[in-house]
Amino acid sequence: MRNITAYLSVVLVVSLLLAVASSGCIGTGTTQEKVLVVGTSADFPPFEYKNASNGQITGFDIDLIKLVAKKMGYDRVEIKDMDFDSLIPALQAGKVDVVIAGMTITPEREKVVDFSIPYWEADQAVLVRKGSGIKVSSVEDLKGKKIGVEKGTTGAIYVKKHLGNSSTIKEYPTYVAAIEALLNGQVDAVVLDSPVAEMFSKKYNSVEIVYTIKTGEHYGIAVKKGNKKLLDGINKALKEIMNSPEWNKLVEKYFGS
Ligand code: ARG
Repeated sequence: MRNITAYLSVVLVVSLLLAVASSGCIGTGTTQEKVLVVGTSADFPPFEYKNASNGQITGFDIDLIKLVAKKMGYDRVEIKDMDFDSLIPALQAGKVDVVIAGMTITPEREKVVDFSIPYWEADQAVLVRKGSGIKVSSVEDLKGKKIGVEKGTTGAIYVKKHLGNSSTIKEYPTYVAAIEALLNGQVDAVVLDSPVAEMFSKKYNSVEIVYTIKTGEHYGIAVKKGNKKLLDGINKALKEIMNSPEWNKLVEKYFGS
């Protein structure tokens, strides 16, 4: 008799627990979790890149969006890595909630997505192999050269506009591929965002920045056009973070010497 009572109470407790768990009241996973799905293109150090030792996607933008998400009450972020020129379509198709990818706020992009307040500034830099003898004192000096860019970026748009008729422009799906092409001589120069060019010139001894095109770009976090609620939340969180010591810590972590 004692055994049966004990058995029944165990059954009762277990089924109660199962009921509670499946209703999502305790943290067994998916049902209650608030997840922010983030699109990025992890070829852009120090903003987003793959950690060399474990392949994890990390960087300034990744830490920043995690801080923003936390402030907004999300439990976690899910990072989706893709080619840069797939990011806006992914946002429009609802495959990601936000894009953070060192993305420049431009009037053309503002027609199709909405941007947060700016959080970083950049120009375009010209990266060449050391000892290549290529001297650049104006964009004109790149005429007749083979220039590598990342497809869909402001750098690609700039060189196509200014050098499209006079140079060979090679578009790569990622900066990893563009830098590789520079290292092995397939292109003479790569035009890319100045903070990232600086990182690459530190990482690879054999390349150097020879010129900076002052484009005065601003990076913003993008959301689907009209997603005002999400954008307002992001802007509020971003302002708070940028005015707090967290911001300096983040800058120091990824740009400090
Ligand atoms: N700022 C440039 C642009 O918006 C380049 C961004 C590239 N970002 C990246 N994660 N690959 O076009």
